[in-house]
Amino acid sequence: MNGALERRDFHEVLRQVKPEAERLITLYPEKRSALLPILHAFQNVEGWVSPEAMDTAGEMLDLPRSVVESTASFYSLFFRRPVGKYMLQPCRNLSCIINGAYETNAYLRGQLGVGHLETTEDGLFSYEEVECLAACDRAPCMQVNLEFVYDLTPQKIDEMLAAMRAGTYDVAPLPQTVKPARSWHVGPEPMGKSPGARDVPDPNDPGGLGDRTGVAMLERLARDPEPIRVRPTRERLVVDGDAILEAEAGEVERSEH
Ligand code: FES
Repeated sequence: MNGALERRDFHEVLRQVKPEAERLITLYPEKRSALLPILHAFQNVEGWVSPEAMDTAGEMLDLPRSVVESTASFYSLFFRRPVGKYMLQPCRNLSCIINGAYETNAYLRGQLGVGHLETTEDGLFSYEEVECLAACDRAPCMQVNLEFVYDLTPQKIDEMLAAMRAGTYDVAPLPQTVKPARSWHVGPEPMGKSPGARDVPDPNDPGGLGDRTGVAMLERLARDPEPIRVRPTRERLVVDGDAILEAEAGEVERSEH
């Protein structure tokens, strides 16, 4: 792996991406609209969206670096650090958690020996838990190098990892031009936090309020549904399901007569 990694040369990357980037720009009435596909084009060649790629995309589209970086950082589809050859992004949102993602994600982490935003020592796998992938009907699910994998089970995870290690998995590995570091966690924030963020110890926790996976909320519901029942939200259906729907339907019927 190291021989290939030592050959990273952004001029060569640019030579490959530039014709495609120029073609993409012609497809849109405003060239700034080509930003996402151009970032994908760089990632397809390098395996990640490097600072040089962001600078170049900005220059081609007349966009400041801040716009390029804030766009790239919005999506978990872009890897802004060198990552493993297989980027594993299991969903940690509500439908997946209800259908077993808490267990399957823990199993996957255990098999890899890494945690959220980390890469295995051999540079083969990176692991990042992401929010809803819009495949809730096939939960729990994940993306592997942005391709969907549905209905995860421990057995399916074992088969997948074995195929990736053997080089026979049907999703191609990412190119890898730089050896990934173990972690790409964001360090502690040097500035004071806003009042809403003061109790959030981990800046990598997008959910905030210390409930990184939503599991605390679900456990609270399972333990003590009472306080939730008064909320005007369908969240309570997790607990009482059909009984609440039927009661509400009965109330509507009575009020109509
Ligand atoms: S909650 Fe996992 S795909 Fe929607």
